Parts: sequence; structure tokens; C-alpha cells
Amino acid sequence: MKISHIVVAIALTFSANVFSQTDKHYALSTSASGYKVDGKVKSTDAGLQIPLSLISDKKDGINLYGNTIENLVVDVDYETEERLHIKISDKEKKQYTVPDSPLGIERPNVVHRAEKANYDFQYTAKPFSFRVVRKSDKAVIFDTSNMPFVFEDQYLELSTKLPDDANIYGLGEVTAPFRRTTNITTIWARDNADDFYRNIYGSHPYYSEIRDGKAHGVLLMNSHGMDVVTADNRITYKVIGGILDFYFFVPKSGSPNDVSIAYTDLIGKPLMPSHWMLGWHHCRYGYKSINDVETVIKKYKEANIPLQTAWVDIDYMEETKDFSFDGVNFPKKRMIALGEQLHKEGQNYVVMVDPAISANTTYGPYVRGTEMDVWIKNPDGSDYVGMVWPGYTTFPDWWHPNASAYWEKEIGDFVDMLGVDGLWIDMNEPASFCLGSCGSGKVDAGKQPYRWLLPQEVQDANHAAQEEALKALGNPPGETRDLLYPKYVINNGGGNLSELTVATTALHYGNVPHYDIHNLYGHAESYITRNALIKQNSKARPFVLSRSTFVGTGKNAGHWTGDNHSLWEYLKSSLANILNMQMFGITYSGADVCGFNQNTTEELCTRWMSIGAFYPFARNHNAIGQSDQEPYLWNTTAEASRNALQVRYALLPYYYTLFEESHRLGTGVWRPLIFEYPQYNEIAANDLQVLVGSDILLSPVLDKGRTTVDAQFPPGIWYDWFTHETTVENVGKHAEVETVTLDAPITHIPVHIRGGSIIPTKQPKYTVGETYSTEYSLIIALDDSDTAKGRLYIDDGESLEVENSSDISFTYKKGKLSASGEFGYAHPEKLQKITIIGKGASKLTIAHTEHKSIELTKDDNSVTADNVSINLTEPFEIKFD
Ligand code: NOJ
Repeated sequence: MKISHIVVAIALTFSANVFSQTDKHYALSTSASGYKVDGKVKSTDAGLQIPLSLISDKKDGINLYGNTIENLVVDVDYETEERLHIKISDKEKKQYTVPDSPLGIERPNVVHRAEKANYDFQYTAKPFSFRVVRKSDKAVIFDTSNMPFVFEDQYLELSTKLPDDANIYGLGEVTAPFRRTTNITTIWARDNADDFYRNIYGSHPYYSEIRDGKAHGVLLMNSHGMDVVTADNRITYKVIGGILDFYFFVPKSGSPNDVSIAYTDLIGKPLMPSHWMLGWHHCRYGYKSINDVETVIKKYKEANIPLQTAWVDIDYMEETKDFSFDGVNFPKKRMIALGEQLHKEGQNYVVMVDPAISANTTYGPYVRGTEMDVWIKNPDGSDYVGMVWPGYTTFPDWWHPNASAYWEKEIGDFVDMLGVDGLWIDMNEPASFCLGSCGSGKVDAGKQPYRWLLPQEVQDANHAAQEEALKALGNPPGETRDLLYPKYVINNGGGNLSELTVATTALHYGNVPHYDIHNLYGHAESYITRNALIKQNSKARPFVLSRSTFVGTGKNAGHWTGDNHSLWEYLKSSLANILNMQMFGITYSGADVCGFNQNTTEELCTRWMSIGAFYPFARNHNAIGQSDQEPYLWNTTAEASRNALQVRYALLPYYYTLFEESHRLGTGVWRPLIFEYPQYNEIAANDLQVLVGSDILLSPVLDKGRTTVDAQFPPGIWYDWFTHETTVENVGKHAEVETVTLDAPITHIPVHIRGGSIIPTKQPKYTVGETYSTEYSLIIALDDSDTAKGRLYIDDGESLEVENSSDISFTYKKGKLSASGEFGYAHPEKLQKITIIGKGASKLTIAHTEHKSIELTKDDNSVTADNVSINLTEPFEIKFD
């Protein structure tokens, strides 16, 4: 549906960074001494090793924010043609490095130097600096020359130059425009209700840059707190510990999707979801009883809004203790029965589990954890006790050798008994509601009033006392760094590093301070939880949704973007947040639809359901105390939800095929336009439209009161999903991005199909299972040379180890549709319907002698062949005349 074509480009992003930052966070450490090559540069199996020592002729350039380390080693490994690894570490190997394990990052074993690398590494000897150059176009993609280089035990600084107005994506987790306009991105996992531009739950020191149509990626593999400054034509890393462990991803093609592939080659490929996980989910914090949950399920059905999975938040727990049930409002028997009922209806069931365990000597999980000695410790070796929902709590130390066995037992028994299909792991930054080990000596004290409910003076007094106690506990033995108050203060939204989490002086197994490992906590929990679920049921793909994430979490868990607000800004920013997660390899991700905090409105919830229906992970979730937001509550919302979810359910085979691609390669399920069309800089900042894969373009309304969308269309032909009309035909050598104003009344979301694509679909039904049991259809959307291509992946939709699958490639050329590929899945539903969209499509007929039963229906721009009845178990061809 198009109203008019607008020629001028329009700004599609929301307003630039607004919070103020101090000079300290921007400033370069210009007095830094720097380093020089000092000794023989050695050849190694995989590259080079360069010894460095401090340039000591500058007297004042040392110990800026910590203790300067004098001797360093630079290991340059040409790991693959696309991946360069530059690790700058202290010669003594004393600084913390992200562990080479699933609880950190499992690193590939590189024994040979990649021949024919796509990059060059160059360096200068005094002062030491280095450059990474892409060979194909000689672009200098990283250049540290003429900028300070600092390596101290609590402060590392390194910068690279950037071109004017660089297109930088990634770095997070933050709520901000997809194309970075922020000046400082702080990385320190934090429980926070999605403050704009501030650090929140996850830690991803990874970015990708698109310059002159070509992309590369850069990862700093470091788990410490840091500020990453993107300003003044530079990126500056200011890190409070560890080493400078860089990876560069330089695919030959320069395609942003190939950068994602190269990145996930290192960090691990995103998980493969089961069919059911792609259906619609509903959740809320604050349902008062199981009756509420049952009513919601019933009302969804009455309104015919497909609901696949019902979730229960901490409300089900007795005094918010993990693995327990509120005997009055959520009795265990009824919780079990709810799961049975959902399964009977072909639906699914997920509940929450928090990592913090109530410190209570009559509570089994605490007693068993204490016996196994799995808790994070105070510097003096006693158990660290913070405070979360149930009052004083201990925290499992995932690095303790007993932690996996402990969690496997607790999770396994619980999941077995309750019959849930997955777990939602929350509060794993980890969140704690007091400062320090505030519950030491207070085991069995029971539920405590939440800090924010106390009068301000009491909060202040408690905080002061807790801070004194924390200081009194001091540093772990032998620790020389100032873990509580590092001199370089990152721009943490929570202020002090230990606020609202476990104190930086707390100890993990092997005497690793929380200071070093904080950003890995949720990542480690997600790995251990996934494995616990696999132990409990080795057949099905485990479902884990984690709030805190780190580099590589996407292979273990999905992610929701946390506690957003029912405000239009958050609806808007949800797209950028999800696009970021796609880049970070957490492709199964979504935002709370209709907004978590604050009261939603009919219009906002309607628009949010329309786009939320297309999130890779699609769930409506609401906070306690907010007005209800089930989509059936308003007629327009219900209608818009049905409309959008019908499209999603029709597209389930397409989504599933994309998820398989993502799992195998690492590409995004959702993609920003610029990732598919990197040569068009005018779409570089567009984060208000998204592509599902390469072929489906979503252009949602994200502003109050609007009923049109000014949508950008990359060159090509774009067809309206609903009417099959050609919305844009913009082809030829000089075709540019075109902006079109689309009509979008309240219950409608504009969806377009890219000419040149073949999309597999199903008949949308109430559940995913019912939908999947319908026969297949294909939508063939023609490009300007009347050709199209597509792919369909099929397996049983649930097995962890896939034994039989089909991977079918469709091509349409000169009137002939051919299917080839692998046909290993024995009993897929048949292909029943083929729709061809494009100029001249309505004139097509079919050779009836071969396909007598086929019925053709036509409209202006398409033809549909029904009853084609083709088995998708072997290659086939079908000819249209
Ligand atoms: C915080 C989570 O982010 C939110 O989704 C959840 O509802 C509450 N914790 C209560 O469990």
C-alpha cells in the first residue's frame, strides 16, 4: 500500500545521546609513557611474538590509575584467513584472562599461520603501535599509532582511529540507536530498567564497522568493566583489568553478514530453537494466583489469538524461594496440572528460576549447596550473603567444581516434577538488593523489606553501614589491587561497581575476585543451566532464557532485553536492541512486548503487538502493579495481534529455516537493512525497519498517533505481503534507496517481500504444532528478470541431535520451479500451493497434462496454483507457461 513516494531522505533515528559525561571518560591519557619493542621479534607457529618494554624516559607517564606493568608480550596469531588475533599480555601472565572454558570462551587451538590472510598486520617499534589493514582495498581498519597505550594492573587504554562519521554497530548491552551515536559505552553487567545509553545486563565488547560498503568486526575479549569511547574520530578502550586480547574479523567479501559468520566461528554459533519456541509467548510478573494464569490462557483462546507458551514468574514461589510453591495461590498440584493441561492442548510451559538461593537452614537447596560448598565467598573464606527477593541469599559460584552437579540436581528434580519445557534465568548479573555481604551472620532471618520500600533516611543509613562493613572485610588475601574503589571509575550507571550486585572483593573458586569475573556470571549460569536441562532430558533442545549475557552466550540461551517501559521510545528502541543481539550471536532474542514498567495504552500495545509478533523471540510481559496488557483486552489490539501473528505463523518454516542458518553459520534472523545492502550509506542508521532474513521487510508504526510509515526500500522490487501489489520497482544500475510513505491503519503492519525470493509458508493455526502439520506453500516473488530463489530446512523440530533433515533449494527461472538439495526428512507435509507474484504472473498457466488437479486463481499481480500436491521428499520441477 503506498500513498506517495517521497524523494528526500528522512532521518529515521531517534535523538542523539543526551546524558552528560565527564572529561575523564572522554580524555586520552596523553601523558602515558608508551612501550617499545625490546628484544627479538620471534616467529611462532601461528604468527609472531613481539616483546615490549615500557619507554621509561618519561618520568610522569606511569601508574596513572594503577601499577604500570613494564614488560609485555604481543602475540600475533594469523588464526584463519578471516581472523587475526592480537593478544597483548603481561610477560608474567599475572593479569586475569577470560578462561578458556565453556564458562568463559573456548578458544580454538590454532597451530598454523593462515596463509593468504585477508589482512595485514603492521607495527612500529618505538613507540609500539600497530595497524590492521584489509588487503583487498588497503583500508586501515585498526590503527593505534599516535595515541596513548597504557597497560597497568587496573587500567588499560588503547585507541584506534576512525574515519569521519563512522558507522559503528555493537558494543553493549545498551539501549541506544543501532548505529552508535553514544559517546561512551560502559560495559559492566547491571540490573537496571533499561536506562537509555547506560550499561545494562549484558557485556559485549564487540563492534562491527561498515566503511565504504565493506564491513569488519573487532572483539576485545576481556571480562572487566570498561568504558568504550566512540568520539573524536577514535574508539578508545578504557578497561579496569585483564589484558588487551583483540580479535579482528575481516572476511574477504566485506559483507556484514560474513562478519557475523566469522565472529560466531570464534564465539560459538547461536542455539537452534525447537518449533514451539517460535510461537507466541505470554508472561506477567504479578499474577495473583494460578487462576489468573489459567484465565489468561482461556481468554487468549476465546479471542483466537494464538498462544503457544504460558510463563509463570516468581509469583509461583513460596516467599520467592526457587524450587518452591506458594501453597495457597500457586499450589504445587495445580502448577503440575497446568503443565499437563498446556501440553494436552499442544502448548508449552516456562517458569522462572533465580540464581540467588535463600539463606535458610530449613531450605533444601541452601542446605545442599552449603554441604557442597558451592557459594561465592567473602574475602575471609566465609559464605558471601547478599539480598534478593527471598531476603538474604547466597549465590552459586559457577566456577566451583561442585556447581554443575549442584545445579543439575536442583534443576533436574524440579523440572522433572513440574514438567516445564524450559527455564527463564533472571537476576543473573547477579543482582543483589544491598551493598556487600549484608546478610553475613543473618542466615534464617527470613524475607526482608525491599530496600526501595524503606524511607530514604533508612536506606541511606543502611547503605553507609553496609559500605563500612564491606570496607572492613577488606581485600582478599594477597590482592594488591584496589578492588572496591579502582582509581579509574568507569561510567557505571549504578555508581560504585559493587552497587546492586555482588561485591568486587567477593571470591570465586581459585580465589578469583568477583572484580575479574563479574561480567561472566550470567553467561556461566546459562551454560550450566542448559547442561542441567540436557542431563534431565537429552532428547529435546533445552530452552533457557537469560537476562545477563556475555560473548558467546547465544549458544546456550536466548535473551530478552529486560525491564523496558511501556513508552513509545522503548517500542522504538526495541528494534535496535534486538538487532544488537543478532550481531552478538544471540539470535533468539526479543523485548517485552507492550512494555514492562509503567502502564501501557491501547494504541501502544496494539502497535507493539504488531511488530512484537515478528521478534525472533516473541513475548508479551508486564511488571507487577502495572495495568493489564493481555492483547485480548482491547478489540483493536486483539485484531492487530491476530493479523500479525497470522503472518508470523504462516512464516514459521521461513523463520525456522533462518534459525537453522543462524545456528549453522551465525547470521542474524533479524537483520538491519545496512547488513544486506552495505553499499547504501543512507540506510546506515535505519533501525526502525528490519529485515527478517534477506527477504521479508517489516516497516512498523512506532510513533503515537501515526497511521503511515515513511519506509526506506533498498533497490529492487518489493511486494506487499497482503495484497501482492508491487510497492516499489526500483531496478537498474543507478537505482537508489527509495523512501515511500506506506499506509498503516491501527491494525495493520506493512510487510514486504523482496522480489527474487521464494518463501516457504504454512497455514496459520492456533498452535505451532497445528500450524506445522498443515501443508507447505511457496511464495515466489519475481525479480526484474523473472527469477527467484529460496530455501527450506525441515527436521522434526525438537531433537537435540538431528538425525534426519531436509535442506531444499528452490529456484524459479524461465517459468520453471525446481527443487534440489537434501531430502533426508522422510515425512514432511506436501507442497500444496504455489503463489507467483510479479509482472506478468497473472498470465501464467500450467501444463495441465501433468498436473490435472491443479486449480489456478489469479489477481492483478499474482497467480496461485492450488492442489499441486508435490512430495517434498525428492527433487522436482514444475513448469509454468
Ligand atoms: C526482573 C525481570 O527482568 C523481570 O522480567 C521479572 O518479571 C522480574 N525480575 C520478577 O521476576
